[in-house]
Order: sequence, then C-alpha cells, then structure tokens
Amino acid sequence: MKFFLTTAIDFVNSRPHLGTAYEKITADVIARYRRLAGFDTHFLMGNDEHSQNVFRKAIEQGKDPLAYCDEMEQVFRDVWRRLDLSFDDFIRTTDQKRHKPAVQAMAQACLDNGDVYEGSYEGFYCVGCEAFKQEKDLVEGNCPIHNTKPQWIREKNWFFRLSKYQQPLLKHYEQHPTFIQPDIRRNEILRLVEGGLEDISMSRAGQSWGISVPFDPSSVVYVWFDALINYAAAVGYGWDDALFKKWWPANLHIVGKDITRFHCVIWPAMLMSAKVELPGQVFGHGWVYFKGERMSKTMGNIVDPLDAADRFGPDPLRLYLAKEIPYGGDGDFTWERFEEKYNADLANNLGNLVNRVASMTERYQGGRVAATGGGALAAIAAHSVAAYRTAMDVHALHDGAAAAFRLVSAANNYIAETQPWALAKDPSKAGQLNGALADTAEAVRIAAVLLSPIMPASSAEILRRLGDDRAQRDRRLDADTAWRTSGEKQILNTGALWPRIEADKGVVSVSDETPKAPEAPAAPAAPAVITIDDFMKAHLKVARILEAEKVPKSQRLLKLKVDAGEAEPRTILAGIAESYEPEALIGKSVVIVANLAPRKMMGQESNGMVLAASPEGGAAIVLNAEPATPGTRVR
Ligand code: MSP
Repeated sequence: MKFFLTTAIDFVNSRPHLGTAYEKITADVIARYRRLAGFDTHFLMGNDEHSQNVFRKAIEQGKDPLAYCDEMEQVFRDVWRRLDLSFDDFIRTTDQKRHKPAVQAMAQACLDNGDVYEGSYEGFYCVGCEAFKQEKDLVEGNCPIHNTKPQWIREKNWFFRLSKYQQPLLKHYEQHPTFIQPDIRRNEILRLVEGGLEDISMSRAGQSWGISVPFDPSSVVYVWFDALINYAAAVGYGWDDALFKKWWPANLHIVGKDITRFHCVIWPAMLMSAKVELPGQVFGHGWVYFKGERMSKTMGNIVDPLDAADRFGPDPLRLYLAKEIPYGGDGDFTWERFEEKYNADLANNLGNLVNRVASMTERYQGGRVAATGGGALAAIAAHSVAAYRTAMDVHALHDGAAAAFRLVSAANNYIAETQPWALAKDPSKAGQLNGALADTAEAVRIAAVLLSPIMPASSAEILRRLGDDRAQRDRRLDADTAWRTSGEKQILNTGALWPRIEADKGVVSVSDETPKAPEAPAAPAAPAVITIDDFMKAHLKVARILEAEKVPKSQRLLKLKVDAGEAEPRTILAGIAESYEPEALIGKSVVIVANLAPRKMMGQESNGMVLAASPEGGAAIVLNAEPATPGTRVR
C-alpha cells in the first residue's frame, strides 16, 4: 500500500528555525514509521519561492531572485540533512518542468469549469501573510500577526469562486470525519465554513515574480494558489499522468495550525473545481514556542535547531519534539527542559540500559547471550508494541514515544529485580543469568526498533551493537518487534551513547557514573558528600570580563575574554547569553573554575567555566564587592 505525505513548503526569506524544523521532523517521524510499517512511502518537502517577501529579500541583497532561491535551497537542504530528514522528493515553486505546468493546468481547469472570473479587487493586503485581510480582522488598523499596516490594493484580479464550494466542502467534512485532524482544527474549520465563504483573488496584476496566468499573461498566479498546487505538481499533475495516478491522492498533508484554512478550505475547493480527488487528511500541528513566547526576529529569540543538533546529533532534539509535545497541540522549548529530558530519557534511562546490558554481558558471559523465553518482560514488550502502533497510526507521536520508553524503563527495572551481578556469583545460576541478560537485550532491541522513526541514527547504533546491522529499510514493524525466543548473539560494549549534560550548562562530559560497575543503581543519586580537600581541587578565581560577544548560531553561549590575574587574558564560553546582553557584562567580575580541562563548544575552545546560578537561562554570579582583584582565589 502506498502512503504519500507532505509538509508545508517554506518561504525562503529566512533560514529554517526550530518552529519550521518541528514540522519537518515530526513529518519525518511519520514517514519513517510508515516505511517501517511496510507502506510504499513517498515523503515530499519543498520551498515556497514566489512570495513578495522572498523577492524583496533578494533585491535587498542585490541578488537576482532566482539565484537567491537557488542559494536558499542549499541552505534548507543542508539544515534538513543535519536533522536527518528522509524526504524522497523536494519541490520548488520556481521549478519549470513540474510546478509551472501543474499550476497552469489547474488554473485552466478551474477556468474551464466556470469557477474563475475577472473582477477588480480593492482591499487590504498584508505582505507578511501574503494574504488579503478583511477590515474586521485588523487590530488598530494593523495585521494582528505581523503588527504592520497592510497595503491598500486596487487592481484587476482573477477570482476563484470559493463561495460555490461551501456546501460541497461541508458535505465532504461530514462524510470524511478524519479529513481534518486533530478535532480542534476540524471544529475551527467547520465553524468558519458554516459562516459562509467569499470568493478569493487568485492572481496579482502587474507583477513579474510568479507563474503567469495561462489566460492572462499580464498577471501572475497568487502565491498561495500557486503554492498549494506543489503537492500535486511534484507527483505529475499536468505533466505525467502515470506518475500522478501512482501517488495521488496524497494521504496526509502536515501543516501548521496557522495555515489549515488554506489547506482545508481553499485547496480542497480548488481540487473539486479541477475535478481532482481530495487528499485523505490534513493534520494541523500546533506551534512551538520558546520559553512560552512566539519566536520572532524582532524578539531576537529564534532558536536554531542546529544549536542542538550540532552538539548532540539530531536525535535528542527529534526525541524532545516528538515526545514532549502532544502532537496537534502547542508546545514549548527551553534549553533547561531539553537538557533535563536528555539526561532523564537518554543518559539515565536508554543509554544506561544499553551500557548495562552490554557491559554485564561482556563481563559475565564474554559478550554473548542465548535467547530464552522472555516471560514477564516479553509480555510488557508486546503491550508496548501494541500501544505504540495504535498511537502512531493516528500520528500520536508523543504516545508512541512514551510507549517505547515504558519498555525501556521496564527493562531497567527488570535488571534491578533479577540482579545479574548477584546471579553471576553463583555458578549454579548461570542459566538464570543468561536469561536475565538475554531478555533485557531483547527488550532493548524491540525498543530500538520502535524508536527508529524518531531517533534513526541512535536506533541503528543500538541495533548494530545488538548484532543487527541491516539497513533500516529492511526492517519491518511486525517481524522486528516480535520477541525472539531462540538464537545467540554477540553484544558489543562500545561506550556511552549519550554522555550526561552537566548542570554547568554548555559543558558536556562523559559521565563517570556510566556503569563500569554494573551493580550501580540506575537512579540518579543525591549529591555525594565531599571533603574540603575535594572542594579545593577546584581552583576558583575572580576574573574580570574584558570582552563579551555572542557565539554565532548559538542561542545560549557567550564568548568571554577575561582577566583572571594571569599573564594573558583567557577565553571562556559561558551558557549565559539568554540572561545578558554581552555589553552589559563588560567590566563585571565573576568567579571562574580556572583548572577545568579545555573543551570545545560550537567549534571554539573554552578555557574554564563561569559559575552561574540558573533557575532559568544561566545567570552568572556577578560579584558586587568591588574591587575584586582578578586572580583572587575564591574558597
Ligand atoms: N509557504 C507557506 C506554506 C505554503 S504550503 C502550500 C508558509 N511558510 S512558512 O515558512 O511560513 O511556514 C512553514 C511551516 O512552518 C508552516 O506549516 C508553519 O505553520 C510552520 N511553522 C512556522 N513557525 C512555527 C512554529 N513556531 N511552530 C510550529 N510550526 C511553525 O506558511
């Protein structure tokens, strides 16, 4: 069975950010899940280029618009590659071979069906939204989304008879109750359409940046009418009937909640008019906020997904976004919560489990286990697999991820209960010892298969250590999540997958507590008591900040040059950028750990660490008692 899914295509006037990446990552999880479940999957992404904002941005930079879009394609592809997105196709709306003929064919089909007429438009147009606004929707004369004054436009336009489709759309929603998901969006759209639909403008006069209207070369097709057609254009509409037949209708359009109206009302009406089958479902996901606020350039709080991906690999970010935000609702991202979840789910839970089973198997059985029955753990695994499937089939990614992690926790508990380290002391219990290790390894294997759509590279690595180095495309949900009761395997013990992130933020060290001694409890312990001698090993000094600047592409790091009473100033990277403007720190005295091993972060070396108290966002402890001579020891 085929499964064709798409994401919104992005405006290219700025780089991808965490919000746009959220959509692509979650869609990628769905695509990978469908492939694992055996569907012949086609995953489409792309760029939306015929926007006035894009055109302006290019001109501002003194570039030819198409050349600018070519450059941005590379920027987008590079980010998507670093987030491990597995799209099968990528379409651009300036594509002349596929997109242009499709747009012209659909515009013509709508005209031929009597749904396009010429008129003149007068009204407000918000360039930020690329949409016409009704006066009642403005707040103090401004677009409520962009807080800017829309332009008053008066021009000749071609109109699409959207009003004609009110009843057919309502009928379609009724006959296909899951056409719009989640239900909250479905209800919003139902109310909107029940309230009546007005015809919409489908062209803009006197512009050159766009696809010309086939029956009026003096106009270009309105950017949204143009963009929506990408989904059909990519798979052959208007240029390859056989291909179109193979993939259309799309099974699933994944879009943000701000653009469901375009996808649930205008797009299906266009398709009805052009006599093309409607997609199976439009899923309107929620928004990701940063510390509760909308990310925006003016707020200066745009999170670059590569900040996380370049430090930890893409998987911890992918897991956070899929697991911590109920899919369909809004969610929040903060570095504190990201690090907390990383430590809890990856360093302490899954990572610890992989290490424990591998190191104990190595220590007690030369790295080999022979599969046995499974017992209670096998039953939990079967239950987790079933819950995972039920959730993933309806895109409840958070529930799917949680089901997989229930199995991980159960396997950690199973180790605590069976106590392999105690069994190992008694040669008569060799069978039980092997059983405990083999069962745990089998549970880890199944959990890794379940997590493979969310954390592809990490799951592949875990499976490799467990002796399965097949390509992911060769794995199947049914066969590969069934408990295996026979066979022997070698387990590789090759080190920590996810070193803990230490509380000083920014500094990551390979945790020494990763169980070299497997009997160590998995739960995080209370801080150990230390002696004064232990404390004195840390050389704390007063340092004065001479220079401070943001680290490019990092939301949190500041690069400081400090005078620590030494021959030369030293450079320290501190995770405090969310709390200070760099200039405000110059001349301030702080306490540093002076004898910390140098560490590289974001490609730069840090020599020491600034002490910070961090309820939110890393606030350095700034000394008030002046003058604190740089170099003074703190104890
Ligand atoms: N070009 C249009 C879509 C055309 S589809 C035929 C567009 N582009 S966009 O670049 O502004 O947004 C792309 C997608 O990212 C949209 O689905 C949008 O909802 C989503 N998001 C943008 N910011 C977001 C968050 N902060 N959080 C989650 N998704 C967000 O709209």
